[in-house]
Amino acid sequence: MIEEKNDRMEGAFSMKEIIGKSEPMMEVFKMIRLAAETDLSVMVIGESGTGKELVARAIHNASVRRKGPFIPVNIGALTPDLVSNELFGHERGAFTGAHAQASGAFERADGGTLFLDEIGTMDQKTQVTLLRAIEDKAFYRVGGKDLIHVDVRILCATNEDLQAAVQKETFRKDLYFRLEGFIIRLPSLQERKEDIPLLAREFLHEYNEKYKKSITEFSTEALDLFVNYPWPGNVRELKNVIQRAVLLTPRNVIIPEYLPRRFQLKSVPNNKIVFDVGTSLGDAEKTLIIRTLKDRKGNKTATAKILGISRRSLYNKIQQLNIKV
Ligand SMILES: Nc1ncnc2c1ncn2[C@@H]1O[C@H](COP(=O)(O)OP(=O)(O)O)[C@@H](O)[C@H]1O
Ligand SMILES: [Mg+2]
Repeated sequence: MIEEKNDRMEGAFSMKEIIGKSEPMMEVFKMIRLAAETDLSVMVIGESGTGKELVARAIHNASVRRKGPFIPVNIGALTPDLVSNELFGHERGAFTGAHAQASGAFERADGGTLFLDEIGTMDQKTQVTLLRAIEDKAFYRVGGKDLIHVDVRILCATNEDLQAAVQKETFRKDLYFRLEGFIIRLPSLQERKEDIPLLAREFLHEYNEKYKKSITEFSTEALDLFVNYPWPGNVRELKNVIQRAVLLTPRNVIIPEYLPRRFQLKSVPNNKIVFDVGTSLGDAEKTLIIRTLKDRKGNKTATAKILGISRRSLYNKIQQLNIKV
């Protein structure tokens, strides 16, 4: 009984590493829990840097296989001829240079989970071998004659629409249907902007500890730039930007000066504000207030006058919009 309780807590703990409170992330958490209760193959779909591997690990850690190994293989990082070798291992003498027998990822993942990243880049020949291995729960090492039986759960990830690849016949339909037992779609960071400050603060905390700095916060302007930036590299990009800023910042607040050049609004004259279509009224209002305050050197009476509101409503907005002055 006690053991079971501990196991559950371990499972729940692994999910804590995934940060997010937005609606789409709540859906992701729900799907992770459901996927962890089954032994089905899972396909995690999302742009690069959205946390596909993190999600795969969370599923493994919350599943009955949690005490078994989690073996990730990035198919996209391997040349086609290396993929089979990596997945299935080889016998001695299987090819020039194969001086000794080697086990592959399938063998190492026995009793646990095999995570195939960038599955969409797999060549057709290996796709056939992979499908066989999944269906038979058994495979041959490259150059081997003995069937090796394993008990492995397959999770995979892709950043492209594999259905399109199936249509174009570059990805085998039968393998696709084997892998998509359960589909989890990860939102891009742009689709969950409300998680940006949460993630940013968590990474700030993490790198602050790591580099033994004493940085406590972001300036309102820096956070605003984060929320309005499109983040093509998603969470990975955000993490890197913050790591860099933590290293560069000499004081205890991160200001725009310590962000990469793409965040500097230098191309825009100081007295202009440029918004993307898609900016919320709240964000626009906040930026306008911050910039006017700055232009008036923090003088609230002058700022309120320019904005055409009373001093009192300016104070209210400063509080409501969490503007640091
Ligand atoms: N929701 C999240 N919460 C915390 N960290 C995250 C989250 N999503 C991604 N990360 C971090 O961002 C980086 C990229 O995540 P990863 O899972 O490798 O993305 P992908 O496999 O989709 O490219 C990792 O350092 C990961 O820990
Ligand atoms: Mg990845």
